[in-house]
Amino acid sequence: MSAMRIAVAGATGRIGARTGEALRRQGHDVVPISRSNGVDLLTGRRLDEALQGVDVIVDTTNVAADARDSTVATFARMTHNLLESGERAGVRHHVLLSIVGVDRVPDNAHYAGKREQERLVTTGPLPWTVVPATQFHDFAEMVAGWTERNGVAEVAPLLVQPVAPDDVAAVLAELAVGPPRGRYVDVAGPDRHDLVDMARRTYQARGRDVKVVPTWSSVFGPSMAGDVLLPADDARILPTTFDEWLTTLHPAAGSEGLR
Ligand SMILES: NC(=O)c1ccc[n+]([C@@H]2O[C@H](COP(=O)([O-])OP(=O)(O)OC[C@H]3O[C@@H](n4cnc5c(N)ncnc54)[C@H](OP(=O)(O)O)[C@@H]3O)[C@@H](O)[C@H]2O)c1
Repeated sequence: MSAMRIAVAGATGRIGARTGEALRRQGHDVVPISRSNGVDLLTGRRLDEALQGVDVIVDTTNVAADARDSTVATFARMTHNLLESGERAGVRHHVLLSIVGVDRVPDNAHYAGKREQERLVTTGPLPWTVVPATQFHDFAEMVAGWTERNGVAEVAPLLVQPVAPDDVAAVLAELAVGPPRGRYVDVAGPDRHDLVDMARRTYQARGRDVKVVPTWSSVFGPSMAGDVLLPADDARILPTTFDEWLTTLHPAAGSEGLR
């Protein structure tokens, strides 16, 4: 396959950095897009310049947690700018990383933003692929970190089928160099877990002594209970288990002796 020029939006992020690496390993020319690379999707600063000669955009951006209206508006502005600039540059394929079940959780601000992103992409000017992924293996750690205070963190007992960030990046890199697929099947990891258990085991692997309290009254509510976050039966199951991922973690600095 001949080398392509592929812009990775969110290039410094958890998934974007890995996607860029995977594409570079395959010999493609990767254009990193993020504010720390000098390109701001919110204002459009240096975006037209960055997308010159680009064949494909992979959008792995994220926005900071905020109120629903501002979260939706920020996702919308960034996505709009990316699509419009992509059209001007003659981009042939736009790949968006989304989340499994965004349509099943009405009251979450981030999910509302992702739905708006999907709407703009699927009705927008560029041929597209939307890739719904389940929660990443480090999701429990991220969620616990949002509320952790004085050795206690609150986590909702979500039922999830988490996936390795490296595996998601490999799928994005694969799809980016193929034809637009429309809505791709859900991508997920191999096993189901309780998010509270994942948080406890992650803290243990980090050597951190944090008590994890299960609750539906903190960040996530009962609208995310049950099977709403689980992938469809025809999902593409990626190989790395949560247990395998845990073995790659390093204890946090200063945590020696806590285990
Ligand atoms: N976490 C999960 O379990 C999960 C599961 C499924 C899907 N997802 C989705 O996966 C996507 C990526 O998540 P992630 O955790 O990899 O994100 P992340 O690590 O937070 O990275 C976000 C990226 O977006 C860039 N960015 C933010 N604002 C920008 C702006 N105004 N202009 C240009 N770049 C900007 C950031 O770079 P700068 O800060 O340098 O600009 C960074 O590179 C999200 O959309 C999320 O909804 C997440």
